[in-house]
This record gives sequence, C-alpha cells and structure tokens, in this order.
Amino acid sequence: QPARAVDLVEEESGAPGEEQRRWEEARLGAASLKFGARDAASQEPKYQLVLEEEETIEFVRATQLQGDEEPSAPPTSTQAQQKESIQAVRRSLPVFPFREELLAAIANHQVLIIEGETGSGKTTQIPQYLFEEGYTKKGMKIACTQPRRVAAMSVAARVAREMGVKLGNEVGYSIRFEDCTSERTVLRYMTDGMLLREFLSEPDLASYSVVMVDEAHERTLHTDILFGLIKDVARFRPELKVLVASATLDTARFSSFFDDAPVFRIPGRRFPVDIFYTKAPEADYLEACVVSVLQIHVTQPPGDILVFLTGQEEIEAACEMLQDRCRRLGSKIRELLVLPIYANLPSDMQARIFQPTPPGARKVVVATNIAETSLTIEGIIYVLDPGFCKQKSYNPRTGMESLTVTPCSKASANQRAGRAGRVAAGKCFRLYTAWAYQHELEETTVPEIQRTSLGNVVLLLKSLGIHDLMHFDFLDAPPYETLLLALEQLYALGALNHLGELTTSGRKMAELPVDPMLSKMILASEKYSCSEEILTVAAMLSVNNSIFYRPKDKVVHADNARVNFFLPGGDHLVLLNVYTQWAESGYSSQWCYENFVQFRSMRRARDVREQLEGLLERVEVGLSSCQGDYIRVRKAITAGYFYHTARLTRSGYRTVKQQQTVFIHPNSSLFEQQPRWLLYHELVLTTKEFMRQVLEIESSWLLEVAPHYYKAKELEDPHAKKMPKKIGKTREELG
Ligand code: CDP
Ligand code: MG
Repeated sequence: QPARAVDLVEEESGAPGEEQRRWEEARLGAASLKFGARDAASQEPKYQLVLEEEETIEFVRATQLQGDEEPSAPPTSTQAQQKESIQAVRRSLPVFPFREELLAAIANHQVLIIEGETGSGKTTQIPQYLFEEGYTKKGMKIACTQPRRVAAMSVAARVAREMGVKLGNEVGYSIRFEDCTSERTVLRYMTDGMLLREFLSEPDLASYSVVMVDEAHERTLHTDILFGLIKDVARFRPELKVLVASATLDTARFSSFFDDAPVFRIPGRRFPVDIFYTKAPEADYLEACVVSVLQIHVTQPPGDILVFLTGQEEIEAACEMLQDRCRRLGSKIRELLVLPIYANLPSDMQARIFQPTPPGARKVVVATNIAETSLTIEGIIYVLDPGFCKQKSYNPRTGMESLTVTPCSKASANQRAGRAGRVAAGKCFRLYTAWAYQHELEETTVPEIQRTSLGNVVLLLKSLGIHDLMHFDFLDAPPYETLLLALEQLYALGALNHLGELTTSGRKMAELPVDPMLSKMILASEKYSCSEEILTVAAMLSVNNSIFYRPKDKVVHADNARVNFFLPGGDHLVLLNVYTQWAESGYSSQWCYENFVQFRSMRRARDVREQLEGLLERVEVGLSSCQGDYIRVRKAITAGYFYHTARLTRSGYRTVKQQQTVFIHPNSSLFEQQPRWLLYHELVLTTKEFMRQVLEIESSWLLEVAPHYYKAKELEDPHAKKMPKKIGKTREELG
C-alpha cells in the first residue's frame, strides 16, 4: 500500500453522499481551540494548533530551497501598504536592469529563449519594452500567449494599468468566447489556443512583429503545437521575432528545438524557503489544509499564505470551511481574509487577490495551479502544498479521456515552494511526507500532448494544410496510437475522407472553436432542424458542471429545485430546460437565485451561445427550432457524440465499442432510471469512471447517424427479443 492513501475528491459541488458527509463533519469539527506549543527548544520546530486532539497536524522541517538573497524578516504590513508609483514598481523588477541587454539580444536574434524566475517581470514587462522600442509601429502587433485564461485576462489588465490605457484599447486580451481587443490593440495577451486559431485566418501571422510564447515550460498541448508552427513561419518571415519565455525549467530543450537559439537568463531574486513535511500521511488533504492554514495563522509571524488545490469545487469548499471556522473562532484569532482564485472566477473577484492585505490581517489565497508560475501574488510568505493537481489522461486504446486528481511532480512541488520566497525568506508546508516526496512524485510532468486526445489539434493542422502529421516538427511527439485514433475519429465524424483529406464538413467543423464532436453536433442540427436548441445545449455544455448551486444550509431546497428541471431523455435536455426557463424570465438574476442556478455560469452560457450563433452562417447552418420535438435534438446530439455511447448489460454499463465499465454520475437526472442505451458528454474518473451529462438514446439512432461506424450486429441487444432488422425503416421515420 502506498503511504499516501488520499481519497480522491469528486469534482463538483453538490456531489451527494460520501464527500458531502465528510465536508459536513469537517465543518462541525472545530469545537474548541487551544494553542499548541511552539517547540522553540527543539531542533525541529513544531507548529501545532489543537482544534481537536486528532486534528493536529505535525510538520517536520526537512530541507531548504536555496535562495540567492540573504534571509530577511517578512515585510511588515505598513511596508507592504506603502504605495509606490507604478513606474517605481516596474523599475524594481528583476528584469529591469537587463532591459537594454534584452532588447539588444532580441534585435540580434530571431529566436530568443528567455528564462527567469516567476515574478521577474517577463510577462508584464517584456511586451511593454518591445512596445516602447517601436515594435508595434506600422500597425504591427505583439502577441503574448498564456496557457490559462485567467492569466491572460489578469496580466492584460495589469499591463493596461501600467501603461495608463483602457483595457481593450492598446492592450487587450483574447480568450475563447471572449475578445477584449479592438482595432487599436497592439499588445495582445491571448491563450495559446487562440493564437493557434489565428493561424486559420492568417497562416503567416503577417500582422505580428513579435510572438512571445510565454509559460513555455507548462508544455500545454496548444503551446507545443505552436512551437512547430511558429518555427516554420519564422523560416520564411525573417523579420518575425520569436520569444520563448519560461520559468527556470527545460530551457535547453527549447533552445535545441529552435536550432540552438540563445538563452537569455534573468537572474532571479529568491529568498530561501524552509520546507516542512508532515510526519505521517494525511488521509484527507482538504481537511488537512484547513487545519494547517489556521495553524500557520495563529503560530506564524505576519505574511500571506498561498494554498494549492486542484479545482474550483475544492477551492470553494476549502474557502467555505475556512470562513466557517474563522467565524466560530471570532475574536480569538486575528482577521484572516480568505480569497479564492481559479479559472472561472469572475474578474472583479480575481482582482481582489492582488490587493494589499490590510494592516493586522492576514490573507490566504486558495488557488489552482495557476498560482504556480502564471500569476505572482505579492506578500506570500507561506505556501501550503497538498501535492495534488488535476490532470488529464488519455488512453488511446479505448479512446477514453479522463480528468483525475493526481500527485503533482517534483518540479511542480518546487515551483510551488518557490512562491514563498519572493519577498522574504519563506516557508513551505507540504502535506505529505518527505518519503513520499522522494519516492512517489515523478520528476517532471508529462507534456500534455502525450496524455490527451488530439482530435481538435489534428483537425486544425489539417485545415492549415499540414497533411503529414507523423512528420510534423513536434518538441515531443504524441503517441502514434493517439494520432491514429484522432484520424480515425475525424474520419468517423466525416471531417476527413478515406485519404485523410479535409472534407467540406471538416472545414466547417474547424471554423467552430469547439471540440470536433461538439462541432459535429452543431452541424447536424441543420439536418434535424433544431439549431436553436442545439446552440443552447452546446453553450451549456461549454460552461459545464457549474450550473447548479447548492448552499450547504439549503441542500434540500437546492436539490428539489434541480429535480424540477428534469425532463425525460436526460441531462442535455435538463440543461436546455434550465436555459429556456431562464431566457423566459428575461435572463433574470432573481430567477437564478430562486432556482439555485448560478447566475454567472448562465451569463457565460448566454455569451457563448451568442458567439456560436454568430458563427452559424459561416458553417451554413440556419436557425431553426424543434418546436418541442426533443427526439430531433437528441438525434443531433447523437450525430456528434456517437463515439461516447454505453449500453446497460447484466453487469452494469459498458461502452459500446470498447466494452469498458462505466457508471452514470450520481448527479445525473438519469441516475435512477438506468436506460438501456445512452450517450455521455465526458468521462470523469474519481472513485470510478463516471459518465457526466448523460442522454438516453435508441440504438437505431446510432445506425442512422453513423452507419459507417456501427454495424447492426454489434448493436443487437441480447436482452430484447426483437431488434428491428431493417435500418431503412428508421431512416424513413426521419423523413
Ligand atoms: O512573468 P513573470 O512571472 O516573470 O512576472 P510578471 O507576471 O510579469 O510579474 C511581474 C510583477 O507584476 C510581479 O511583481 C507581480 O506581482 C505584478 N503583477 C501584478 O501585480 N498583477 C498582475 N495581474 C500580474 C503581475
Ligand atoms: Mg509570467
């Protein structure tokens, strides 16, 4: 048995059962508070806060992350409060002394790899230097890519402020379904996926003078593909400047990929960080986090805390638990500001994490991986690291993609620890043992390209006229089987012909900024005359799992409200129903509140829907409604998702083609109904392989929408006596 047996936490809020109970219990735990002794005499300082006897977490100090600077006392809050002018702050960043040298290097080399500690000013300063140097003259633009939406938005906002311009004017950002740029925008922060899509409209990136691929060490799928494309463009556009910016990782790889491009190192400014491990493994890291934050808060000198969790639901739960306990402890402890940060957090809330902590208080930022290298939060002295992240994995044999909570890599753990040493000597508390660090964490994270499905990217590359994918210039090649399966799936969806060439339908699918299956579903809505409904379903699926709201003190009401939206047929129709009723209410926030629906998610769905609607003309789909004939909607969905199907067997659900065991997610409207045939939107592996967003279908529809993929024989039902022999009949029914 591994030493770290940690329960995997389910993704969404409102997951009934086990996890809910655990959270409830945890919340009730904080009964009495006694301050544990800080053992000053011992070599190994112990930090204890006794909430209840069994709830104490003991850390042992093990190693130190070396810094370049002398240890120093944490800044007092008055210091932190001092308002320096924005220009003074800019001059104080580690990159500043290297401004001229850096610009000279950029002038002299077409491709430059830039390496620098997180927070040294790469993202916010370098594009500004280039702007000041005149790289945007003659209407040319500078692109800076970010793997994460939040980072693109927040960094653009910061840079706009530094330049004293309105966001969306000279400086803007562009992320999927949200474009905050204008004709005037010359500094464009964008997700790597968006720059990839730019190639579709401008294959040589002719309007850009500089492309900065930032956070390159993250090695996201889109960044990796960008490398190959940009390297190619750079060959026939010698005036294009390419910058590859990365934290202090992997730079030699990047350099050799770009024909030994020079590496420009920005010396870090890093204070030492003491690293502590737990003595024993923690069974419940969420609970352990909450206890540890309070421990740090009551035993440690001033300085803010940064906690790394894996996703929105977990972060919200942790914040709620923390706030709850603080409320109970009242004036026994100093003020603790609890601030979340994750991808879907609205921007006004995001901005709060950058505001200075009021005197006397302490801030705790509960973040996803985004705070690892993409965002720098000033004033962090303590890092709390449970050692997990949410990671995609893909099995090319079964074609199953899943998102799971997995231990992070050592490289990741050390980046996290480094966040504690930016302003002063810091401390990093790891919620795992030193042994686990040594023996259970991988050295580095496997690049995303090797653990994800490639349908999307292959379709895009094909649209760009890149046919020979096996010989594409990959930094790390994807597994052969994954590429092959992507080609097969695109063929099955009708995007490629038997020669692997892009079809007309494939070209249309590439126009829509969504996954091929979702694109196919939208295209199919033309045939089934239900594009209005399908657009809504597509938009709702895109905002995903954050539609319903389930406050802990109104669980029963919230669950009732949710069940009221149920429609026979399944979850896609439930989503459609929620949206339709909301639209009928006049898109009212009050309606959302009364029905336990997240207003923000709905507003986003509305945005996404509008954007998709705007693209319909380009893909030659007219607006039409099914007028309540949901069979048509279900068939259109099936036309896109016939790959994701399962059937009920004696031993539960099995995927149709691969015979994998899968389960309906307990949150699904079909959880208790167990229809014989169904389709799912995605699989999420938590404790089991759960199908999320499930729709009941008929097996005959599969023959109707994908006759080249399914054979009647494999859809025969051993339980049912009669199976319609003639497929022709069902086709006729369609009319
Ligand atoms: O990219 P790199 O990690 O090298 O640094 P950066 O993101 O350019 O950050 C430089 C400075 O800007 C840091 O001191 C951040 O705290 C600050 N910053 C900020 O205050 N607000 C943001 N949204 C982004 C950066
Ligand atoms: Mg950066």
